[in-house]
Formats: sequence, C-alpha cells, structure tokens
Amino acid sequence: MTRRLLLSILALSTACPRAHAGKVQADNLLLPSDAATHKQAVVDIFTASYSNYKTFAFGHDQVSPISNGFNDPRNGWGATIYIMGLNDLFAEAVNFSQKIDFTVAPTTPTDISVFESTIRYVGGLISAYELSGAQYPGLVDKAEQLTRRMVDIAYSRGNVIPFGHVNFAASTPNVAGTNIAEAGTLSLEYQQLSQLTGNDTFRQLAEGSVRHIVSLGGPLPGFPAQCISPTTGSFTCQAVTWGGGSDSYIEYLIKYARLTNTEDTVFADAWKKAVDTSIKTLLKTSTVGNWTYLADYDGSRIVHVGSHLACFHAGNWILGGKLTNNDTIVNIGLALNDGCWNTYASTTTGIGPEVFAWISADGNFTGGTPTASELAFYNAHGFYVTNGVYIQRPEVLESNFYAWRATGDTKYLDRAAAAIDSFNKYLSVGSGGGYSGIGDVTSTNSGHFDETESFWYAEVLKYLYLTFDDPTHISLDEYVFNTEAHPFRAPAARNSY
Ligand SMILES: *[C@@H]1O[C@H](CO)[C@@H](O)[C@H](O)[C@H]1NC(C)=O
Ligand SMILES: *[C@@H]1O[C@H](CO)[C@@H](O)[C@H](O)[C@H]1NC(C)=O
Ligand SMILES: *[C@@H]1O[C@H](CO)[C@@H](O)[C@H](O)[C@H]1NC(C)=O
Ligand SMILES: *[C@@H]1O[C@H](CO)[C@@H](O)[C@H](O)[C@H]1NC(C)=O
Ligand SMILES: *[C@@H]1O[C@H](CO)[C@@H](O)[C@H](O)[C@H]1NC(C)=O
Repeated sequence: MTRRLLLSILALSTACPRAHAGKVQADNLLLPSDAATHKQAVVDIFTASYSNYKTFAFGHDQVSPISNGFNDPRNGWGATIYIMGLNDLFAEAVNFSQKIDFTVAPTTPTDISVFESTIRYVGGLISAYELSGAQYPGLVDKAEQLTRRMVDIAYSRGNVIPFGHVNFAASTPNVAGTNIAEAGTLSLEYQQLSQLTGNDTFRQLAEGSVRHIVSLGGPLPGFPAQCISPTTGSFTCQAVTWGGGSDSYIEYLIKYARLTNTEDTVFADAWKKAVDTSIKTLLKTSTVGNWTYLADYDGSRIVHVGSHLACFHAGNWILGGKLTNNDTIVNIGLALNDGCWNTYASTTTGIGPEVFAWISADGNFTGGTPTASELAFYNAHGFYVTNGVYIQRPEVLESNFYAWRATGDTKYLDRAAAAIDSFNKYLSVGSGGGYSGIGDVTSTNSGHFDETESFWYAEVLKYLYLTFDDPTHISLDEYVFNTEAHPFRAPAARNSY
C-alpha cells in the first residue's frame, strides 16, 4: 500500500561488506512515505504538552533554586527538544539551565535521589551538550556541579554502594537501604562526565559500585538480588526481577561495555550470565496465547507477573543480542516485545497497564488470586491486568523502537502509529491541550491524573519520534541511550562484546 523510500546505508554496507560484529541496526531500513506524518504528529503532541506544562506547571514547586531546577523540565528534556529540531525552545532551555545553582539545598524534597537526578539531569545535560556539537560548555559545568555535590555525600562513608538519597542542606546521606538499580545506574553518565571534565573520580565511583554488585553473585546464578545496603554492601532481600528496582542495573551492564569499549569483559559477561539464567529460570510462555514473558523470583517461588517497567527487557535483549552476535537472544527479545505489545493491543484504550499477571505450564502463582473477570480477561488475551494505571511510561514503545531499527519490519511502525492515536484519544485532557496519565487502561473514561511525568517528554515522545525519523539519525550503531532515553555518542563498535 505504501511507497517506500530507501533511506539508508547501502554505501556503508558496500564499503564494509562483512558486517562487523556488534552491528545493531538492520541494513536497508525502509521508511514508508507516511512516516513523516506520524513524526509530525509526535512533534505536535510534544509542543502541545510542553506549552501547557509551561502555562500550568512552571512556577509551582519552586521553593528554592534547586527544587525549581529539579522540577523544571527544560533540564531533562533538552536532548528531546534538540533531536526534534525545536531550536528556539532549545536555546531557552540551555539559557535556563545556567541560572540554576545546583549546590543550593531544596526545601522540598529535602532528600535528593542520586539515581533520578543522575539519569534525568546529569544524563540530560551531557546528552544535550554532545548533541548540540559541544557549543555550550555550561551544560557540562552544571552536570559536574550537581554530580560533585551528590557523590561527595552519597559515597562519603567509605561505602562502595552509594546511599540512594542525600540531603544537601545537612550534607548527610539518608542511610536507608537502596537497590541495585539506584546503585548500578550511574555508570554511563559518570563515565561520560569523567571524559568531558577530565576528573576520573566519577567513573571510578560508579564502576566500583557495579563491580561490587557483580562480585556478590545472587539468589539465581549471576542474577543479583534487588535490595542492598550501602552500609554493609550486602543484599538485604532475595527478590529477583527485570522490573523496577533491578531493571536498569542489568540494562547498563551491556550498555557500559558498548559505550566504553573496555577490554575488561566483566560487564558484558555479567549481562550474558543474567540473560542466560533468565532463559533457564524466568522465561515462560502463557497457557493462553503462548505469549513470551519473563517472570519474577521471590527467593523461593516463580511469580508470574510482568510490568510496564520491565518491558524495557525486550529492547535490551535485542540490543545485547546484536552486540554479542547471539540470535537466540535477539529472537527472544522480539518475542518478549510481542508479549509486551499484546498488553497494549488487548485493552479498550490500546494502551498497556502498569502491572499484569499470567499463567504458564509451570504454575499460576502470582502473589494473588485472580477474580472471575480477571480469569475471563486472561482466557481472551493471555494476561490479566492487576494494576491498570498508565502514567506515561516509555518501555513498551522503547522496545518497539529497538525492534524496528534492528529488523526493519514495518509492523513495528504500525504499532507506534496505533499508540499515537490512543494517546491523542485518551491522554489528551482536551481543549487545554496537555496530556496526562489515566487511571485505568481497560476503561475509556477512567479519569486523568493532574500531573505529567517528565519521562513523557524525555522518553515516550523521543522514542516515538525516532521510530518515524530517518534511521540514520541517532543510529543505534552510533549512540547508546541512557535509561532516561538521553543518547550518548559511542565509539565505533568492537568486533564482539
Ligand atoms: C537568555 O537569558 C538572557 C538573560 O536572562 C535573556 O536576556 C535572553 O533573552 C535569553 N535568551 C533566550 C533564547 O531565552
Ligand atoms: C573530582 O571530583 C571529586 C568528586 O566530587 C572531587 O572530590 C575532586 O575534588 C574532583 N577533582 C578535581 C581535580 O576537581
Ligand atoms: C546465545 O545465548 C544463549 C543464552 O545464554 C546461549 O545458550 C548460547 O550458547 C549463546 N550462543 C552463542 C553462539 O554464544
Ligand atoms: C510457544 O512459543 C514458544 C517460544 O516462542 C515455541 O517454542 C513453542 O513452539 C510455542 N508453542 C506452541 C504450542 O505454539
Ligand atoms: C492454580 O493452581 C492450583 C493448584 O494447581 C489450582 O488449585 C487452582 O485452581 C489454580 N488457579 C487458577 C486460577 O488457575
């Protein structure tokens, strides 16, 4: 039905006839002629969301300079704005970032999350600096200012695992336990910051935390437990999951190997081991529909649940399978992506839920008992919804983006286009023009939340935009995305990881 444009890389592939190991994107990606329309629809959603956020949300929560900065989207979204070519908004964002004093303590919240501030602000500032051609060194200065303040407190007690939250006013860490995602998702950002500033301390601290977690092993072979104490450096629970609290620790193992091209195989090996264990222990298919899922493990039992957050796994397996030349892993990644997309395709809104459960041949333990209507939904769709909110999370469309760029199969473009339609139908709050999350994806009128998450701008709309953009723009062979979708420029790939 569609005329297709040849957009890509014949020149490259003839210059390099033996595709080198580690190549992620498919050769000869063909973008249909209607891609430009969908891309523009994403820009329209972004500009409507942004201008309404500006009108109604800027100026609130601005208790002190730093909480002003922390709540101001222009810090975290610069990379999206730049990628979309919104030059006036980008100039405004760069300008604004220079007014924030990141050393000033906020009144609320009193404690800063080191993980959230790193992936959103440090990552966003560095990515915006790199993408805009290193013209604005002030962006790196701000990333360094914030990071020094955070790490000087988070690693202040001889601890190898950082405290998860720090209080800038008192210069003290919150000594509560943390998790492997918070502790193990600083490495891409701090490695880039060390490169840009010449101060290697940031890389050493982040890498040290990851090496320590790897050295602990875990409840399943090579798959660490979720909870960890910065004070003792030991695990404090036995839970294993690809979902929130563990997710981006595993995500970054292979991305760190790729971004640094380090000779040290510890990071890629740890990723391969976690994936291998997952295939042996967590990989399940549903008794209805034969959908592919990754279960959780609670320390003694397999728990048949999945989540929107965990659905990044599909894209991560596609990426890591390509980088390690392992088609088994790529193909499981594509099957996981289908399972996650099925959670969108099966609801009346066409949007997937926050948490879901299913039954597989090995059992039906989900940590709860399904109601009759949940079982009926399961029998129709191969999963059932246990938490139906949608708070504008990116992971399903993120994985869909990897699947498109890695295969060139236009069914992934059709899925992305369907999601755009659903967002316009169900997330738009109406004449005001903003977009927000909804209370129940299985209902067409469940009501909106009175807020917009920053990852809507940083992740959902960036991945959607790039899905319909020239595939050579922010190629997965040239960039590594941090866990908040901020792309970092990577060196040429090694032959294998
Ligand atoms: C940048 O900030 C200066 C001083 O605050 C202001 O005069 C200028 O108009 C700003 N530029 C943009 C593009 O916002
Ligand atoms: C590098 O960063 C660390 C961590 O904030 C800091 O303690 C150290 O003084 C910095 N080194 C230089 C030379 O700026
Ligand atoms: C690919 O990964 C799977 C899962 O870990 C493993 O069993 C297999 O040996 C790997 N294949 C190659 C060629 O390394
Ligand atoms: C279910 O899916 C798995 C993995 O994709 C496949 O190996 C198996 O043959 C399928 N089973 C059925 C009954 O279709
Ligand atoms: C789950 O399995 C148990 C034990 O096999 C069985 O008694 C129960 O009916 C099953 N529940 C569902 C919802 O399938």
